[in-house]
Amino acid sequence: MFKNFRWQIGLWFVGLSCAIYVILSLLGALYFYTKLSYSMDEELRVVASQIGHAIQVSDEKPTFRDWLRVVETEPARSIMSMQLFDSSGNLLEHYGPVGIPRLSFGVSEISERGQTMRIRHTPLHHEGHLVGYLQLQLPATKRSELTKEFLLTMTVLAPFVAGGFGICGYFVSGIASRPIEKLVRTLQLFVADAGHELNTPASIMQARAQSLERKMQKHGMFQEDVLVIASAAERMGCIVRNLMFLAELDSAHKSPSKVALDIAPVIKSTVREFSDRFEKKKITLCTESDLSYIVYAEEESLRCVLTNLLENSLKYTEPNGCVTVKYRALGHDLVLSVEDNGIGIPADSLPHIFERFYRVDKSRSRASGGSGLGLSIVKAIVDSLHGRINVTSTESVGTKVDIILPLYKSPAVAQNLHTNSQQVH
Ligand SMILES: Nc1ncnc2c1ncn2[C@@H]1O[C@H](COP(=O)(O)OP(=O)(O)O)[C@@H](O)[C@H]1O
Ligand SMILES: [Mg+2]
Repeated sequence: MFKNFRWQIGLWFVGLSCAIYVILSLLGALYFYTKLSYSMDEELRVVASQIGHAIQVSDEKPTFRDWLRVVETEPARSIMSMQLFDSSGNLLEHYGPVGIPRLSFGVSEISERGQTMRIRHTPLHHEGHLVGYLQLQLPATKRSELTKEFLLTMTVLAPFVAGGFGICGYFVSGIASRPIEKLVRTLQLFVADAGHELNTPASIMQARAQSLERKMQKHGMFQEDVLVIASAAERMGCIVRNLMFLAELDSAHKSPSKVALDIAPVIKSTVREFSDRFEKKKITLCTESDLSYIVYAEEESLRCVLTNLLENSLKYTEPNGCVTVKYRALGHDLVLSVEDNGIGIPADSLPHIFERFYRVDKSRSRASGGSGLGLSIVKAIVDSLHGRINVTSTESVGTKVDIILPLYKSPAVAQNLHTNSQQVH
């Protein structure tokens, strides 16, 4: 239980830390991208202001004057495309690398044939008239490369960072789960101690009430109060024992002594123990399988599971009903089913039946001796055996509980075992 809890805290820590790392990397890349775009704009602005004086307007058209002398000295000449357009947007001249020969308004970037250019245009005026435009284009390749490089670095670092988070998560989860672990252990200990303390007086009360009942019967006296006390004491003892059992199952200290167990005799003898009670209530109880299958379990635990399921079927099936116990191999699993045609469980109660002290109909369940712990015990045992439970039920039709446990040996081996056992008998 704590191992799981620690794992959960650890995984959450690592998951959240990794998510934060990814978000920070993306935000970092965005910041980097914006910063580089800004510095490109700054570069374009500086160059535009520097080469303004090298443009001459004649015949109402702009031209680069004395280009070689002026422009050759500009620092951005080799990376920037410089274009002159007339007022109608026709390209007149261009210098530097070939850019995209199109005058583009209202955008800061243009893309064409896989090439992205950051642009800046400046209108050129002569005697108050617009005569053309100077457009500078700077390739955005460097910015994409740098942003990609940043993201690549973050990706290469990611496994190391995740490893670091994993180590931190291991220690953090250990520290975080310690107080909870302590609290739950204290609670488990309290339930176990309280159980021990309550069990003795409950047993004494039950024994004394039963002996009083016998004595009164002997003297021909009938006292209903004594019967009520005896059954209440029995119920109390049962609840206390169930609580102690659950506390034991919950505690990490309890490791059931599992063995390779043939389930056939366990099921046979448990069903036999119930036969009288079923007969008394006029309910047919039948077992449909007798093959040997081996599971890795503790005999008492398996018996406890079946006892609780049979108790429920007996309690919640009307006289003249029918209860069937069967088991079969399904792949690598054993499926043990207890099916009845009793009162069934309402659909909205199905998700809650494994909760401790949950009963569908409290008054009816209490009257039949139920406390709502039976299925919680079944679930705790099945969990400890690494199994699963499936419950299908329809009100007024019946209930089927499937216990799915991993088979210890393959069905073929079990079949062999069954054949051998038949030969011996
Ligand atoms: N075979 C069944 N048929 C109808 N209802 C059932 C059956 N098994 C369990 N239930 C319902 O599930 C509830 C929880 O079962 P359980 O934990 O064994 O408690 P209880 O002590 O009441 O038997 C019961 O109160 C009952 O309402
Ligand atoms: Mg029960």
